[in-house]
Amino acid sequence: MQGITIALSKGRIFEETRPLLEAAGIRAAEDPETSRKLIIETNRPDVRIIIVRASDVPTYVQHGGADLGIAGKDVLMEHGGEGLYQPLDLGIARCRLMVAVREGFDYALAVQQGARLRVATKYLQVSREHFAAKGVHVDLIKLYGSMELAPLVGLADAIVDVVSSGNTLKANRLVAVEEIASISARLVVNQASLKLAGTSLRPIMDAFARASAVAT
Ligand code: ATP
Ligand code: PRP
Repeated sequence: MQGITIALSKGRIFEETRPLLEAAGIRAAEDPETSRKLIIETNRPDVRIIIVRASDVPTYVQHGGADLGIAGKDVLMEHGGEGLYQPLDLGIARCRLMVAVREGFDYALAVQQGARLRVATKYLQVSREHFAAKGVHVDLIKLYGSMELAPLVGLADAIVDVVSSGNTLKANRLVAVEEIASISARLVVNQASLKLAGTSLRPIMDAFARASAVAT
């Protein structure tokens, strides 16, 4: 039988996916947090897990490097979703994609005045579309992390990043001023894999659906 490859990222996605994998009878043979291996075998000889960066999950699944993957909606919005079947909202890794500014920065006024807003983010496409739809002119500054720092050192007027508890914003004296999207992680499936190996993928997809429906 053709093997199944599942693309996951370390950290919260792997941790929050673990119960869903269990529900599908899949247990990782090693802990990706401690193992240096990027291909992790499971108790099922026909299933393996590959460990990739969160933002690379859609790319691996799109090009058939993995049959299934789990990625945040933020990552999928930025990727565009081309070539991906997205059958299931897993309701895990919940957060919100927000615009945030320094405390005291008058965002409404800045937007209203029509001056160019400098926005630092790793979500370039999403931000471009969001501000274009509002008719706000922006200079986008690509960052790979620690977005919250940018307004504090004068690199940007605003950031676009995910917010969960709000603790990171608070600790850096930033405030959220606009919500772009409500985010949770989704199951993504390679479209060709579904056609060719649907019979082996379906039971896993169904187990994820049942387990996530119970959890949410
Ligand atoms: P990359 O390594 O590609 O830069 P990352 O460091 O953002 O990605 P994670 O922090 O593991 O990767 O986040 C994975 C996903 O979890 C995000 O795409 C988002 O959907 C969600 N997420 C991010 N931060 C939080 C948070 N604080 N609380 C809940 N969910 C979050
Ligand atoms: C994410 C995100 C924010 C933070 C928001 O970062 O880029 O910085 O989480 O979460 P909060 O609103 O609960 O503070 P990252 O994944 O690097 O940090 P984390 O794992 O510490 O949440």
